Amino acid sequence: MTNREHFGSRAAVIMAMAGSAIGLGNIWRFPYIVGEYGGAAFILIYIVCCFMLSLPILLSEAVIGRRTHQNTFGAMGTLAPGTGWKWLGLLTIVTPVIILSYYSVVGGWSLAFLFKALTLSFRPENAEAVTGMFSEFSSSAWGPIACTLTFLGLTAFIIFSGVKKGIERFSKISMPVLFVLILVIAAYSITLPGSSEGVRYLVRPDFSKLTGDAFSAALGQSFFSLSLGVGTMLIYSSYVRKEEDLIASGAGTAMFDMLFAILAGFAVMPAVFAAGIAPAAGPGLVFETLPFIFAKMGAGGRIISAVIAILFFLTILVAALTSSISMMEVGVAYMVEEKKVSRGKATLGIFAICLVIGVLCSLSFGPLAGFKLAGNTVFNFCDKLCSNYLMTLGALLFSIFVGWKMDKESVRDELTNGGLLKLNGKIFPVLYFLIKYVTPITIAAIFISGLIG
Ligand code: TRP
Repeated sequence: MTNREHFGSRAAVIMAMAGSAIGLGNIWRFPYIVGEYGGAAFILIYIVCCFMLSLPILLSEAVIGRRTHQNTFGAMGTLAPGTGWKWLGLLTIVTPVIILSYYSVVGGWSLAFLFKALTLSFRPENAEAVTGMFSEFSSSAWGPIACTLTFLGLTAFIIFSGVKKGIERFSKISMPVLFVLILVIAAYSITLPGSSEGVRYLVRPDFSKLTGDAFSAALGQSFFSLSLGVGTMLIYSSYVRKEEDLIASGAGTAMFDMLFAILAGFAVMPAVFAAGIAPAAGPGLVFETLPFIFAKMGAGGRIISAVIAILFFLTILVAALTSSISMMEVGVAYMVEEKKVSRGKATLGIFAICLVIGVLCSLSFGPLAGFKLAGNTVFNFCDKLCSNYLMTLGALLFSIFVGWKMDKESVRDELTNGGLLKLNGKIFPVLYFLIKYVTPITIAAIFISGLIG
């Protein structure tokens, strides 16, 4: 494993991890989940989950990845040879494939809306009607399937052709651009007439609105957003040099990720109220609201609003791709490194499986809307299965592995770089306590309550 590539610097590590973390999870999923679970109170739980549970899991994955410089399967084989832990490896192959399938549907919607932005479809004179564009588009059959296929094809092409590095380098420019655009949109969104109720919704917690499964939804969202529980962060950390500070990189990634999500909330939710859309409208929420914002913006300057809309959907697309390639990479790395399959075949195999599931997910907004699995459409079923169960289970097992199976000194060694990082040495006892006791117990409790409730 000596000839493995390495990231060049701390900034490069954070950029790659943030590239995986920041994506549709922040901009599409966060606002609509916040809307479904009642606003500010949910955001508070989410923030606590991020720091108390998700960051320790992220660091657990990082410890395993950098210790072994291998994929999940190989890592388990090295650290716990001949044990059942290798099945955790299997979980980390299956889950990202399912996630990638429905993620590609949403990636496809972003493509379609980029196209709508390019053809100047969000006009001030149809501001009230643009909110309906999403349901009209997503409920048809072929358009969304073609877009899903294109997004998935782009992901596979990037993985296969080795331009992954190029895309990640490009995201160094597009991420800051996206960040500024979200800030501009948020600033505009809160000036819309009727938006103040949306701002209140985001900052004034109403704990009476919290339902029983809000905890598992908040945890699921924070895992989804940080790409946890499926070995993505493990793989990325396996490329991190020994001299790098894992705690600082992990905390930096978590901070950026949260900032993007919360800002996206402020960009979307005030406009949701201004447009009279129901906050609990579900997965289409962002795609119903943004065209409304751009159309309204057009009244003040058509060209500026068109440029903002185009850049916005373009940068979201890049953010989505840097996430989707991280999902596909887990499975491809496994097949290439462990099964000795060629990179082309591995990519094609995963592409084909994702396409089949992706088509079913896409159709579940239209012709297959009435087809339910355990009371959910195929799309929602896949999302719930992964976010609330499979990723949670994976995360739980990673924390148990690092807290109980690995010896404490190896963990300390990784997180403090053999004692060189003095500050990390001071933080370590608290962190280790979180990893060993707090995370597994809390996650198990939330997981079980989700199963029975
Ligand atoms: N975190 C990404 C987002 O917010 C999605 C993602 C990338 C992901 N890799 C993952 C989610 C692995 C779960 C598992 O858009």
